Amino acid sequence: MQFLPEPLPYSSRAVVLLSPPIRRSWPDSGLPFGVARIGAGWHINALVDEALNLAYHGARAQDQSFNISLERELDHSIARIELVPQDMTRVFLNLFANGFYAVDKRRLEVEDGFRPVLRVAALDRGDDVEIRVRDNGSGILPELRDKLFQPFFTTKPTGEGTGLGLSISYDIITQQHGGTIEVDSMVGEFTEFTIRLPRSRRVQPQG
Ligand SMILES: Nc1ncnc2c1ncn2[C@@H]1O[C@H](COP(=O)(O)OP(=O)(O)OP(=O)(O)O)[C@@H](O)[C@H]1O
Ligand SMILES: [Mg+2]
Repeated sequence: MQFLPEPLPYSSRAVVLLSPPIRRSWPDSGLPFGVARIGAGWHINALVDEALNLAYHGARAQDQSFNISLERELDHSIARIELVPQDMTRVFLNLFANGFYAVDKRRLEVEDGFRPVLRVAALDRGDDVEIRVRDNGSGILPELRDKLFQPFFTTKPTGEGTGLGLSISYDIITQQHGGTIEVDSMVGEFTEFTIRLPRSRRVQPQG
């Protein structure tokens, strides 16, 4: 029997690509690898940027005609923050994929000359780091906003969405990282998710 290595899922690949800061901090810390990694913290901008590239190239691989303007407002003075990179990458990939889907929906449904945009901002708010993900896609009906974070809630056709992305993200942000995630939207205009991660929190990978 031939052994074929499984391709790395996106989130693991992101971690591999982002590993240099960990390696540098490891040898002189005298701590086990995982502890040093968590203690050293992560550059949120690098994580966001990498996830955005992965999401974009993933979307382009599926549909070569897919196009969107990506705007980044990444505050370069943000200090490193303790987080579980694999899990936060998973959160970002889902938010970006949702945004890409929403702009495509709006593009197909409505206007000619519509220019899809996804904008990501990472901002230092003192005790918190704030990440905003905004798209100018189809938007979310007010009556659906309470349901978004429930497991299996999806408006996508069977086979296109499981409805688990936001419920898993909610758990990762609130339980694992002690943060918050909120949504603001106007139908036919925009959707914006805002994540706040507290700095003073020890985080553990989920079992
Ligand atoms: N940026 C967005 N614009 C418009 N609707 C959104 C956006 N993000 C989420 N939604 C709505 O929230 C629902 C739930 O999102 P969630 O990420 O949990 O699941 P999904 O994307 O449908 O499936 P999965 O993430 O499991 O592939 C979506 O089906 C969609 O109706
Ligand atoms: Mg999703």
